[in-house]
Amino acid sequence: MTTTATRPAQPAPRPRAAIAARTLRNDRWWLAPLLTVLGLTAWVAYATVRVFMQRWFFSEGPGYHYLTPFYSPCLVSGDIPKGCGPAAEFGTFLPHMWFIPFAALTLPFLLLFRLTCYYYRRAYYKSFWASPPACAVPDGHKRYSGETRFPLIFQNAHRYFFYAAVIISVVNTYDAIVAFHGTSGFGFGLGNVVLLVNVVMLWAYTISCHSCRHITGGRLKHFSKHPLRYRFWVFVSKLNGRHMLLAWITLGTLALTDFYVMAVSAGWFSDLRFVG
Ligand code: FES
Repeated sequence: MTTTATRPAQPAPRPRAAIAARTLRNDRWWLAPLLTVLGLTAWVAYATVRVFMQRWFFSEGPGYHYLTPFYSPCLVSGDIPKGCGPAAEFGTFLPHMWFIPFAALTLPFLLLFRLTCYYYRRAYYKSFWASPPACAVPDGHKRYSGETRFPLIFQNAHRYFFYAAVIISVVNTYDAIVAFHGTSGFGFGLGNVVLLVNVVMLWAYTISCHSCRHITGGRLKHFSKHPLRYRFWVFVSKLNGRHMLLAWITLGTLALTDFYVMAVSAGWFSDLRFVG
């Protein structure tokens, strides 16, 4: 004999409380999005000016060889300031035009890597797009289509930009190493420390990427059969918990490194030398 289970009658859902206020939050929830707008706008403005300035990007002395990361790898033929001069380490196949950055091969990938980063997406959706600006604060837009449609569906390409970022981090590492060698040989100065700190932070940010975490530990059924990958995944996961912090730190170290090289190159101050 078959029986048909009858569900107990559910009470009708209660209508939402009629609250006229846009939000009941009375703390300074707007501060974080505001600071994000200010911070990102200032950084993008500085980076844009520097990338198209096409001067003060390289400085060489008896014991140093400093190239700013905004011009690495430098690919324009000719002597400084119209070309890369001795800063060209990876060939010179780009023409000199005012609208072509000297590192035009890598900058678009770096931009896309950051633009599609999970943290930056969260940051600019909340701050620039008010979608939503904070928890328990209504969205600034009536409709929401998420990242499943054009154009935001391209955010899914982030994992591919991660591979490009790894290659560019290798190039930045190379720059930090050759920076110890100037026209007369080995040297060591404050600029080397600045470049080294920057490159370590760049690696930390790149490896803490959510895509990297998936690449190292994803699609595995048993961690016990992959002890090395497990260890690396644990390491990446720890860094991943600080991804937001690393995202901001690297904006700071990039700008600081660029400014230091610019200042030494322009002669605003001399590099502090420890050796050579
Ligand atoms: S999630 Fe931020 S760099 Fe990949």
